[in-house]
Amino acid sequence: MSEESSSPNADQPFVRGFSFKHCVALITGASSGLGAEFARQLAPQADTLLLAARTKETMETLAAELSQEHPHLKLVICPCDLSTDAGRETFWQNVAQLPTKPNLLINNAGLGDYGLFADASGDRIRRQIDLNITALTLLARSFLDHISPTPQRPAAILNVSSLAGAVPVPDLAVYAATKSYVTSLTESLAIELASRHIQVAAVCPGPTPTNFGNNARRPGEKDIDRGGQDVLKIPPHRVVEAALQTLRDGRPIVYPGKRVTLAATVFRIMPRSLMRFILAARFQRGQSK
Ligand SMILES: NC(=O)c1ccc[n+]([C@@H]2O[C@H](COP(=O)([O-])OP(=O)(O)OC[C@H]3O[C@@H](n4cnc5c(N)ncnc54)[C@H](OP(=O)(O)O)[C@@H]3O)[C@@H](O)[C@H]2O)c1
Repeated sequence: MSEESSSPNADQPFVRGFSFKHCVALITGASSGLGAEFARQLAPQADTLLLAARTKETMETLAAELSQEHPHLKLVICPCDLSTDAGRETFWQNVAQLPTKPNLLINNAGLGDYGLFADASGDRIRRQIDLNITALTLLARSFLDHISPTPQRPAAILNVSSLAGAVPVPDLAVYAATKSYVTSLTESLAIELASRHIQVAAVCPGPTPTNFGNNARRPGEKDIDRGGQDVLKIPPHRVVEAALQTLRDGRPIVYPGKRVTLAATVFRIMPRSLMRFILAARFQRGQSK
């Protein structure tokens, strides 16, 4: 999964590897889970963090904690619904007010929906596509208009994808498909944007204890038995450490944790027919419980 170092243009060599020192970072989904952890881990090195999500109060609490620990840090809180055009407009208006142009976008906000596709509400399907695909893509595109990357101050986009993007997941079908899109988009953009001094990477976590599970559960439904997933679990701080390290190393994709990496490798090399057989057996077992 490592890239060879390359020099797309001899006059403007691509600076491989991103440094977080003095970065101006935009973090979506910063009110909880991985987004809040990205803010905590970037705070010691960053100049400015812009935190975006819908819940203002939790971001205020996080910002108060970070300003106390890191008095040098400039913090901007941007309450907005990123799944809407109006919310993204608010986001970019806040970015335009920053004293220095951003050089890092952490495209982290996302949500899932556990359960059968046939029982899913159109609203929950749409909300996943609007946030996980439309918002992430349009934010990445607009980011390019708000940065001035140079070899000395490169820029980076980190997309939060998922191990679920590497394999079809019955019971989480739309979510897995959205994350497959995120991983594919990331790999294309990593190639397209490299010569412009913009690094693009995706982190593809396995199951991580955050609010994700509660938010993905349908109202009134019990948790689905996801037997076997516990072995893949790693804590949010390790996911974020691996994600930031991948940008430092200039690599486009990381599956945090040895077991998650192994699972992703198995999914990649396993014959598709065998994968479908295993997934169908697992699905039937789940249905009969
Ligand atoms: N946890 C896992 O097992 C896991 C595994 C693989 C990948 N991921 C991915 O990791 C990312 C972060 O999720 P998490 O695990 O940290 O879950 P989380 O704790 O539920 O955090 C999701 C974040 O997204 C924000 N968000 C949701 N809808 C939004 C909207 N319409 N506009 C703006 N912000 C919105 C939430 O804030 P508000 O509700 O305040 O808006 C929250 O800050 C997601 O992309 C998820 O798909 C998670």
